[in-house]
Amino acid sequence: MTNPSSATPAPPTGTRGGCPMGAGAGAVPLSGPGFHSEPRAFYRTLRREHGPVVPVELPGGFPAWLVIGYRELHQVTTDAELFPRDVSLWNQWEHIPEDWPLRPMVGSPAPSIYFTAGAEHRRHVDMVVPALEGADPFEIRQHCEQLADRLIDAVCSRGTADLVSEYAEPLPLLVLARLIGFPDHDGADIARVLKDLADGGPGAQEANLRFGEHMRRLVAAKRAEPGDDLTSRMLAHPEPFTDEEYVLDLMAVTAAGHLTTAAWISNSTQLMLTEDQFADSLSGGRHSVAEAMNEVLWEDAPTQILAGRWAARDARLGGQDIARGDLLLLGLGPANADPHIRQQVSPAVVRSGQGGNNAHLAFSHGEYRCPFPAQEIAEIIARTGIEVLLDRLPDLELAVPAAELVRRPSAFLRGMTALPVRFTPVRSTGDAL
Ligand code: HEM
Repeated sequence: MTNPSSATPAPPTGTRGGCPMGAGAGAVPLSGPGFHSEPRAFYRTLRREHGPVVPVELPGGFPAWLVIGYRELHQVTTDAELFPRDVSLWNQWEHIPEDWPLRPMVGSPAPSIYFTAGAEHRRHVDMVVPALEGADPFEIRQHCEQLADRLIDAVCSRGTADLVSEYAEPLPLLVLARLIGFPDHDGADIARVLKDLADGGPGAQEANLRFGEHMRRLVAAKRAEPGDDLTSRMLAHPEPFTDEEYVLDLMAVTAAGHLTTAAWISNSTQLMLTEDQFADSLSGGRHSVAEAMNEVLWEDAPTQILAGRWAARDARLGGQDIARGDLLLLGLGPANADPHIRQQVSPAVVRSGQGGNNAHLAFSHGEYRCPFPAQEIAEIIARTGIEVLLDRLPDLELAVPAAELVRRPSAFLRGMTALPVRFTPVRSTGDAL
């Protein structure tokens, strides 16, 4: 893979940046079914009409750039000095209402790994990433097998289930809760809290407060009595952090890993249940599980669009004039489908996980990418979760025609709203959750 050169500086424009009048003529509204029902065709059209950097309009009329070119996305994520993940740079803040629906996702400056930049971000990375690295892969797998069995026990005698709400969503959260150091009963409540948060309804604010309280109690408990868990390893880091920083970092790790890993499980399972080439996975072909998971990272990446990066100064990118403080949304999903890179990566390579496969951008790239040990944790949870499911319910099949499956109505996270399945009822192996 070539390493693209840095973006070239441009004369100050000020045309879009800070414009209170909205995103300007020709900007594409960042909503609507195109983004989630037929994304491939939709992004092909955007690429043809706008090139690799698309002017878009966020809800409320706020302007942003959506980077869909692989080369340009690589350039933006590599050059963390020109394009830091520094939300405080945004030239729209003075126009953004308190109750703007995308506020929680775009974020606001806070002392956590996710909402700091530069040296302050690296300080958090140096504390959080080694703590993630300390999780033993063998133990993660054991936790995952046990929790997956319990979730399946809750539905197995029924013969039907919704794999999204009853399996793919709770499983990563319950495993992460254990790794972080929570007892299982707290894990179940955190799953409920995060569901309220994700639904974004009137309960979201209160859910966020409860989420923080769980973390605050945990930090106090682990300070008093450390264990073999992520929180205790973070607290043992030699450089001091405030309790608020530990709490926000734990919330960031949980929020970053939960629905993304859930979507990796459900998108891969859906692929195996709908595509003939994966039929042998239903009779125990482990190889196919890995292939489906690899294919999903290229074709159906959980994080399709991510907010984002902010320009530290005026620049030119993909033929567009980017003003200082402009928001760049990372089109990780569309960049993976960019014909420039796909000409170099054959379908066989996409599936095998060999060669150029790790060139996909599903986990982003550069200084702020998903940390490598977090990627490994996600991989263990997703693979173990799918393997246990297929072992326990070997004749699993979709309960509705594939054409009736509904995608989340989101341009940002690619997953299913539900995955109704049926199977021959089997006996429970132990305690259901
Ligand atoms: C399929 C599963 C996952 C996907 C697709 C995913 C994807 C991502 C992406 C796209 C980012 C943002 C990178 C950027 O701004 O450039 C990110 C950041 C992050 N992810 Fe993941 N992630 C996954 C699972 C996890 C898990 C399981 C954990 C925790 C155990 C985790 C922890 C984090 C953290 C802490 C960050 C912030 C890193 C930083 O700011 O330096 N992720 N992830």
